[in-house]
Amino acid sequence: MILPGVTHWNHPGFFAYFAITSSAPGVLAEFLSAALNQQAMLWRTSPAATELEEVALAWLRQLIGLPGEFEGVIYDTASVSTLHALAAARETAVPDVRAAGLAGRKDLAGVRVYCGEHAHSSIDKAVILLGLGHNSLTRIPADADFRMRPDALARAIAADRAAGLLPLAVVATVGSTSTTSIDPVDRIAAICADERVWLHVDAAYAGAAAMVPGYEWILRGAERADSLVLNPHKWLFTPFDLSVLYCRRMDVVRQAFSLTPEYLKTSEGDAGVRNLMDTGIQLGRRFRALKLWMIMRHFGAAGLRGHLAEHMRLAQVFAGWVDASDRWERVAPVPFSVVCFRLRGDAGDDDHQRILDTINASGEVFLSHTKLDGRFVLRLAIGNLNTTERHVARAWELLNSAAATA
Ligand SMILES: Cc1ncc(COP(=O)(O)O)c(C=O)c1O
Repeated sequence: MILPGVTHWNHPGFFAYFAITSSAPGVLAEFLSAALNQQAMLWRTSPAATELEEVALAWLRQLIGLPGEFEGVIYDTASVSTLHALAAARETAVPDVRAAGLAGRKDLAGVRVYCGEHAHSSIDKAVILLGLGHNSLTRIPADADFRMRPDALARAIAADRAAGLLPLAVVATVGSTSTTSIDPVDRIAAICADERVWLHVDAAYAGAAAMVPGYEWILRGAERADSLVLNPHKWLFTPFDLSVLYCRRMDVVRQAFSLTPEYLKTSEGDAGVRNLMDTGIQLGRRFRALKLWMIMRHFGAAGLRGHLAEHMRLAQVFAGWVDASDRWERVAPVPFSVVCFRLRGDAGDDDHQRILDTINASGEVFLSHTKLDGRFVLRLAIGNLNTTERHVARAWELLNSAAATA
């Protein structure tokens, strides 16, 4: 009864959302991690899990070209990584927030967090949860290629300062959810430096691509950010879940969260060991680093780069078919492995929904949609280790036959 009720995220015809994929070393590592049952709240409760996390995250950091002053920590999801980053931003902007909180304060002007029009909803949830209020989030308009406009950001910050508000953080996105657009992080970083505002980079999906030769530029400017999130469970063959927060100021994260009750004090104290419970809200943490380490050991840098490059090649192949077609049009650039497209002419939401339902009902492929400029758009996302040109061609065939009868 269970398997028929499963959506097959690991299928090579899975092209929906961000097509994530597991891998044999990742599955084996999950098995071992469950068998070893490590709880790495303190260094002494699992020295190996604590130290392997440091090793694996240093390798990943080097692969994507972030400088050594970024310390990494593993959380379950990007939503949680971003929540911690914005908690650190709040700690920096309102140093007594830990003791005094935010409620009922007359000494504190309203705060503001900025992100692009196309940024992920995890940022909304973070500001809600951190007590900043949803109204504190300002979405900055995008350019024609769905990227945050730095001039509009600078103007919004200036206007808020003039109104007596406190700009607290900016979230730039590298690989936005709908179109995988890339905000100009270097220009945004310059604004944040001038304004002394925390810069968090949401590279949850696309950050991994920075390891591919020719794609280093996508994180240009991120070396000046305060924090960055990258999800190996999205596009690095890691079984769900594993998100990495890199932070240049992990001391601020610790300042925000560390708290040691008597029963967790140890004889080694703070002497040169890292207690992972200090870097976040959760006390207990499982041995996620093992799967990331095993995946990097198994594929090697060249293997990882090769698979990511192949996914991007397949996306270009599909985009080429769309561009050459009289029936379809592409509606966004394709910097990575996602193609956004719709029917030419005046086909409506219902027509597109019918096509989507028809091809998904085939059981051979699974696609999802978004809306851009108010119009229904189909998305084909490539990310599975076993996806080949044959699977992409089959999706194209199914789309065309569904469109012919729509
Ligand atoms: C750009 C971006 N950021 C953050 C997230 C949230 O990821 P998670 O499910 O790990 O919280 C997503 C999810 O798709 C995303 O696309």
